[in-house]
Amino acid sequence: MNEEIKTAPLCCAPEPLEEQPYGQEFWNGKYQVGETAWDLNGPSPALVKAFAKWQNKEARILIPGCGSAWETDALLEMGFTHITLIDIAPDLVAQLKTKYADRADRVTVLEGDFFQLEGQFDVVVEQTFFCALPPLLRSAYVRKMYHLLASKGEIVGLLFNRDFEQDGPPYGGTAEEYKGLFEPYFHLLTMENSVDSHPKRLGTELFITFEKKCAECANLNLKK
Ligand SMILES: C[S@@+](CC[C@H](N)C(=O)[O-])C[C@H]1O[C@@H](n2cnc3c(N)ncnc32)[C@H](O)[C@@H]1O
Repeated sequence: MNEEIKTAPLCCAPEPLEEQPYGQEFWNGKYQVGETAWDLNGPSPALVKAFAKWQNKEARILIPGCGSAWETDALLEMGFTHITLIDIAPDLVAQLKTKYADRADRVTVLEGDFFQLEGQFDVVVEQTFFCALPPLLRSAYVRKMYHLLASKGEIVGLLFNRDFEQDGPPYGGTAEEYKGLFEPYFHLLTMENSVDSHPKRLGTELFITFEKKCAECANLNLKK
């Protein structure tokens, strides 16, 4: 592992939210005008299948950049009791807070920047959040995930396995690129073509389960 990876701080918020190229105003504006082409209007079948097998229903689950967070209802139905949603778009978050007000004992809804979040989670769900971030933030995302996950915690989700032509999000990627980014910090337990994707994305996504490495395995300097 190179020196830069070993010594770089683990919890590395990049620029403040308002200085990020695609920050709060950009995303909230998308929700305000209903330009939400990413929204599947229901839970991802691949994620439902993965969590149906999950034994520990008390696992602390985080869904960052949660958007409409359709998976939440499915997780509640399966009996999960500790679900945290976070998104930077205030109008969207206000709707989610209203929606889950009567289930606040099991669902925490936060408005804020993922990179500023503190806490410990057993599982982080990835779905079209990584691809929404400018690629310059990818390494910060990986480190932040490492920081937020408890020992042996996992990222479970989907990453695009394709390119996009337009400027701006979503940004694509490849398995090789993801391996380079995540492998210093995570055991890549699964990274395979997703056969259970939503029909709109079938053949374009990788299903992933990445387990947090121990500090020694990752050879990290744990000082923030
Ligand atoms: C492409 S959308 C995906 C939403 C949701 N995951 C889905 O699959 O429907 C990206 C989401 O990430 C949110 N977002 C972008 N940057 C964020 C950040 N730094 N912290 C928290 N949420 C962020 C946006 O507001 C938006 O809801």
